[in-house]
Amino acid sequence: MPDDSPLPDLHSSPEIDTTVSHSARIWDYWLGGKDNYPVDREVGDRIEEMLPDIARQARADRMFLGRVVRYLAGEAGVRQFLDIGTGLPTVDNTHEVAQRVAPESKIVYVDNDPLVLVHARALLTSSPEGATDYIHADLRDPEAIVAGAGQTLDFGRPIAVTMLGVLWHVLDNDEAYSIISRLMGPMPSGSYLAINHPTLEVTGEKMATAIQYWNQYGKPPGTHRTPAEIARFFDGMELVEPGVISITRWRPEATPFGEPEEIDQFGAVGRKP
Ligand SMILES: C[S@@+](CC[C@H](N)C(=O)[O-])C[C@H]1O[C@@H](n2cnc3c(N)ncnc32)[C@H](O)[C@@H]1O
Repeated sequence: MPDDSPLPDLHSSPEIDTTVSHSARIWDYWLGGKDNYPVDREVGDRIEEMLPDIARQARADRMFLGRVVRYLAGEAGVRQFLDIGTGLPTVDNTHEVAQRVAPESKIVYVDNDPLVLVHARALLTSSPEGATDYIHADLRDPEAIVAGAGQTLDFGRPIAVTMLGVLWHVLDNDEAYSIISRLMGPMPSGSYLAINHPTLEVTGEKMATAIQYWNQYGKPPGTHRTPAEIARFFDGMELVEPGVISITRWRPEATPFGEPEEIDQFGAVGRKP
C-alpha cells in the first residue's frame, strides 16, 4: 500500500533537496502519487510535453514488475528478492506481488534517495510468514548491498535481483556491467536478474531530447542504451523467453486487441545457470 503519511517537514530533513527534481519523486508523479514537490511536477510536465507517453511508460514499468515477479514467484519458484532502485512505495510493491503468490517470500529493498528512506516503512509490511527489509545504499557499492541483504536473504538459495528503471542512472557502460557482475557473482545457481531500461528504439529523438532535458534539470543523470547493450547485462545467463524486448511485450496478459504497442523501455529476465 502507498504510505499515507505527509511529505516530511523539510527543515527536519536537510538531505531532501526540493530545488532539483529527483528520479524517485518524478516517477511517483508520473504514476499518480503524491510524494513529489513542485519542482518534480514542473520538470515532469515539461518532459511529458516532449515525450507524451512517459506516464504510460511509468505505468508499463510497474505492470512489467508485476508480471516478472508473478513469473518468478510462480513458475520459477523463487522465494527471495533483492529489489534495487526500489522507488517510492506505490501500489503493488515487489513484496506485495511476491507474497500474494508465496506468502513466505523474503524481499530486500535498496534505494539511495533520502525521501524513499523516509517512506520505507510502507515497504516493511511483510506477511507474517515472510520478511521485508530496506537498505539505504548506492547500487555502485554492490558489496555493501550483498552484505546487507545477507541479514535477511539466504545466499545458498536462489535470489531474484530486480533492477527496474535504475541502471540508466549509471552512465558508463563498463561501470554498469561491472556492477551487475559483482552483484550476480555471489548469487547461487538458479538466481535471476530482471532489468528494464530506456532506449531510443521507438520514439528516437523524442526520448533523446527528454533525457537531455532530464540531465539538465534532474538528478541523478541518466542515459539510454540499445537492446544489444541491455542484452550484455545478461552475459553468461540464460534469457527467459521472449528475451530482450519492449516491456509491454514481455509475457503480456492476453487481450482481444492484438499485441501491445512497443514503448521505449526494453527489458528482460535472465537465469544464472
Ligand atoms: C525511475 S525510478 C524506478 C523505481 C522502481 N524500480 C520502478 O521501476 O518503478 C529509479 C529509482 O532508482 C533510484 N536510484 C537512482 N540511482 C541510484 C543509485 N545509485 N543507487 C540506488 N538507487 C538509485 C532512485 O532513487 C529511484 O527511486
